[in-house]
Amino acid sequence: DWSMENFIDIEIQKIRETVGDKKVLLALSGGVDSSVVGVLLQKAIGDQLTCIFVDHGLLRKGEAEQVMESLGGKFGLNIIKVDAQKRFLEKLKGISDPEQKRKIIGNEFIYLFDDEAAKLDGIEFLAQGTLYTDVIESGTDTAEVIKSHHNVGGLPEDMTFKLIEPLNTLFKDEVRALGTELGMPDSIVWRQPFPGPGLGIRVLGEVTEEKLHIVRESDAILREEIAKAGLDRDIWQYFTVLPGIRSVGVMGDGRTYDYTIGIRAITSVDGMTADFARIDWDILQKISVRIVNEVEHVNRIVYDVTSKPPATVEWE
Ligand code: XMP
Repeated sequence: DWSMENFIDIEIQKIRETVGDKKVLLALSGGVDSSVVGVLLQKAIGDQLTCIFVDHGLLRKGEAEQVMESLGGKFGLNIIKVDAQKRFLEKLKGISDPEQKRKIIGNEFIYLFDDEAAKLDGIEFLAQGTLYTDVIESGTDTAEVIKSHHNVGGLPEDMTFKLIEPLNTLFKDEVRALGTELGMPDSIVWRQPFPGPGLGIRVLGEVTEEKLHIVRESDAILREEIAKAGLDRDIWQYFTVLPGIRSVGVMGDGRTYDYTIGIRAITSVDGMTADFARIDWDILQKISVRIVNEVEHVNRIVYDVTSKPPATVEWE
């Protein structure tokens, strides 16, 4: 009989047989998939697993801490944390084109991961959180061996890993059920989708530390209020963006000239098409008041009422 409990037992056996006494490497992003893979592997092979977590400084408020405390602390994963916030900001300086920003963030990520991986001895396997849907979409069966993506980092060009993809027969909802069965908290298991380039594409145009701060703080307030309203599982994705325009406002006795924050909240099945979420006005008002009061340099809030298409989910 297929049950999640059986799945875990069988999968753990399979992982142990495959890995033997060799070492496994995992890139931890903080997302559901890589986190579940990490906890599952930890159960199966313990300290033979090493995780690399690159903190690019473009994560949401509290996320890096949560990865370290929950996965590193409670679940005991062996995590190497790479603090690269300054480095990413530096690389993004003067860059305002969205695709260029994506490319820089992605490349830098791989570079830092490889650099860290090259310091480790005797890694034979690379674990990945590939889902069944990814397998179908790429049209290939599970690849057996992949090459390290490039030769900029410390890895020799011909260095190869064998791949371990324990989630590649599962759909997203099954991965969440697996995470829950493994004792993982809802905050990880039910984490909303979050793009790899992170807040880097939610600060429109050039990314600066000040703008990152504004979008991160406003996003934290939005998330808190959406959770309080009990909407966090109904709304597929919700976040704030900083368009970078400033407008005139009035606060106390004074005129202000400050930033606008955009709120994006959508319902969707797969992110391919989306509709804007019909959030109650009173909830939106509460969010608006809190952001303007609590986040410095914000004096106006707008709600995005376009669906996808013609708009996209992200603003960049
Ligand atoms: P769009 O904006 O294309 O977003 O309608 C659809 C879904 O994809 C996510 N997204 C990304 N995810 N890297 C990612 O890993 C990216 O560069 C990226 N751009 C968009 C977006 O958050 C939404 O869930």
